[in-house]
Amino acid sequence: MKRRDFLTAAGAAILSPRLSWAATSQDLIAEPVTAQILPNDGPASAMWGYNGSTPGPELRLAQGEFLDIRFLNQIGQGSAVHWHGLRSDNAMDGVPGLTQDIVHTGDQFNYRFRAPDAGTFWYHSHNRSWEQVAKGLYGPLIVEERNPPDVDHDITVLIDDWRISETGVLAGDFDNMHDQAHAGRMGNFARAIINTKALVLTGDRLRLRLINVATDRIFPIELTGIEGKVVALDGMPLAEPQDISDLVLAPAQRADIIADVTSPHSVQFVFPTRDDPYVLGEIALEGTNSNRAASAIRPLPANMMAQPDLDNALSLTLAMEGGAMSPRSTSLTDIWGFNGQSGLNDNPFHSFERGQTARISLVNDTRFPHGIHLHGHHFFEVQADGILGEFRDTTLITAGETRDILCVFDNPGKWLLHCHMLGHQAAGMKTWLEVS
Ligand code: C2O
Ligand code: CU
Repeated sequence: MKRRDFLTAAGAAILSPRLSWAATSQDLIAEPVTAQILPNDGPASAMWGYNGSTPGPELRLAQGEFLDIRFLNQIGQGSAVHWHGLRSDNAMDGVPGLTQDIVHTGDQFNYRFRAPDAGTFWYHSHNRSWEQVAKGLYGPLIVEERNPPDVDHDITVLIDDWRISETGVLAGDFDNMHDQAHAGRMGNFARAIINTKALVLTGDRLRLRLINVATDRIFPIELTGIEGKVVALDGMPLAEPQDISDLVLAPAQRADIIADVTSPHSVQFVFPTRDDPYVLGEIALEGTNSNRAASAIRPLPANMMAQPDLDNALSLTLAMEGGAMSPRSTSLTDIWGFNGQSGLNDNPFHSFERGQTARISLVNDTRFPHGIHLHGHHFFEVQADGILGEFRDTTLITAGETRDILCVFDNPGKWLLHCHMLGHQAAGMKTWLEVS
């Protein structure tokens, strides 16, 4: 190749959008914002957000690339940003007191890390999260496959609830102990925030990325007007796509769906209730796409997964306890705890050798469901028949239930393990572990 030809080729490559993503860098400013939480004819609300809005901007990058974020805190209270579900560097995990110092208001912090897995993730405040997430400090973080599936639209759908008055004022009782001792802070208004810019047509193939960003509410979701499959959970592709029926998202859980629009009118996101179904949101349709040939929904390309060493797996138990209406260890110093301990102290739940496999029995000895989230790793849910099930970062354990998870602890650092019902986390349901 002549030198001139090479320069031409290199010049062309620099213009291609994909290469310009090699590092996605931007400022993320946490600040007070005004947001339209209530339907459009209702009054706007004073909230917190990033870069002028809640949800914050949708951050997108390609798998393997770096995200470079200068975080500036202007909310008048300490904060930090956690990149939920990313199996990335411990120092960038955004947990004040464990992985970094709190970012005081007026200060800034640089987050720079690689996104190893393609999938649907999100970011949110990890300081006083039960207040800061409730006030709107969250946003989607989308890591694209190098060869994304062929769809007409890739649409992020955040599902949230708010405790809000008819005048649009968010209730301020974030530390309400009655809420924390029960199911957490439940909103009286819920909505799907659908990020669609383009017109959607009947016959289009959609990728929907559902994220439950609510602080405490579990959302069962029904989708109408489409036919398709769930292709990923908590950002991780399913080897076999599953039916969309019985979809339940605990706080922080995600589901990726690939589906064809079958309705002539709308695609609806419905929260089934005992009375009337509650429509969380809808995508109105504007005509018909007759160019798309029918094709099967294929699994997404798998992310890297370390193989668990089943024979030498360490057995551990994490017992949830506390809350209203159940007996508790006298050693709990707060409403909730794990294994007789509330909150973090100097002793980790366990210190793992890097690469060690552990089978952890999650025992829910309480009267409430809990969505247990491990930072920095995904884990397999072990099914009742012993077979390895879904590969998740947050698992929902109903009251009285026990579920084992199997995890290869291969990411070094100090990681949080907590209930993602953020009111429970606030009241002691958290611990930490170490991988070295
Ligand atoms: Cu979504 Cu401890 O995080
Ligand atoms: Cu909980």
